[in-house]
Amino acid sequence: MEKKKLVVGVISCSSMARKHMQGVLAYPDAELAAVCDIDEAKIEETLTKLNEDREVPADPTRYTDYKELLKHPGLNTVIIVTPDQLHREMAEAALAAGMHVLCEKPLALTREDMLAIVKAAKNAKTKFMVGQIARYTPSFLKVKEIIDSGEIGELYFVESEYAHDYLHIMSQGGWRSDPIRNGVVGGGCHAVDLLRWIVGDPTEVMAYGTHKLLPMVDYDDATIAIMRFPNNVIGKVFVSTGCKRNYTMRSVFYGTKGTIICDNKSEFFQLFLMDENDHKAETVPQEIPVEVANHNAVGEFQHFADAVLSDTDVPTDAVAGAKTIAVCMAIVESTKTHAPVKPNYDFTV
Ligand SMILES: NC(=O)c1ccc[n+]([C@@H]2O[C@H](COP(=O)([O-])OP(=O)(O)OC[C@H]3O[C@@H](n4cnc5c(N)ncnc54)[C@H](O)[C@@H]3O)[C@@H](O)[C@H]2O)c1
Repeated sequence: MEKKKLVVGVISCSSMARKHMQGVLAYPDAELAAVCDIDEAKIEETLTKLNEDREVPADPTRYTDYKELLKHPGLNTVIIVTPDQLHREMAEAALAAGMHVLCEKPLALTREDMLAIVKAAKNAKTKFMVGQIARYTPSFLKVKEIIDSGEIGELYFVESEYAHDYLHIMSQGGWRSDPIRNGVVGGGCHAVDLLRWIVGDPTEVMAYGTHKLLPMVDYDDATIAIMRFPNNVIGKVFVSTGCKRNYTMRSVFYGTKGTIICDNKSEFFQLFLMDENDHKAETVPQEIPVEVANHNAVGEFQHFADAVLSDTDVPTDAVAGAKTIAVCMAIVESTKTHAPVKPNYDFTV
């Protein structure tokens, strides 16, 4: 019997798409068969960069129309790395063409689009996964392992932030400036998803926003949301898309027996544990070393491909991606209504 293999097409040739291509090339049972971008120069530029340190250069078929890529002989898998506004159209088309799909976050920007993707994924015989890449960041993986082991006791307060300066990108206009792409949804979904993954689905959020950093958009560029989680855990998410600092997802997990302070860009995270004998917390934390890989597309593709080839559940299906965005939408709504909002997790289709 012929061994099952993923024959993959990547839609978009951005630098993030190149990371996904590296993920495909690193997986033993996958082939990078096709790539697509409306910008032909970008296709060549990206493939040149991709091949810079490769002994055997990748030479996928080039397309400028994704509908043509979907007809590529033998193709069975597609990775969608195009602007958020295009995820629905491309996900629906790829699933209808019988492809397994790995789609970039955020799943979509409207409830209508999310429901359409959930429905298309439900009706398909293939797998659909939304790429929530923070779940493959080595520091966060290790932090989750420690929390799940009970080492820091029971969680009672958690926080995460998405602080990323978009000023230079926003100054060039483009799809990120679309008013529908609020920074809480586009970028903040990483921090929200991290907390959903580790703690569960928030039951209620209350948020405040301000706007001082990105003059070209008409939405808040800094937002703070406080929230309630299951098991009597409280938490907060801070999103700033014009901040004057290096990109970070600084996160803190407070448990009854210890505390973890971590992020996605440092070579270690801090672990404070309570001394069971004198009931005092350590004043000097342990520094736990971790590999730095905040865009671990290799790890993400590995989980997706393993699920496809073993016919098991993907880590984040369409509903999981939609739930994360439902929380982001509740945060944005709360900044406008000045009232607590319960996220709408009903994605019944
Ligand atoms: N997981 C992460 O950490 C992460 C990081 C960056 C971006 N993203 C997500 O990836 C997606 C793309 O973001 P980006 O930073 O790569 O954007 P980008 O603007 O840098 O690149 C988008 C690419 O898509 C191409 N494109 C546009 N319309 C197309 C079409 N109809 N057919 C084919 N190609 C088309 C553009 O020419 C461009 O090359 C977004 O959904 C974004 O939210 C995720």
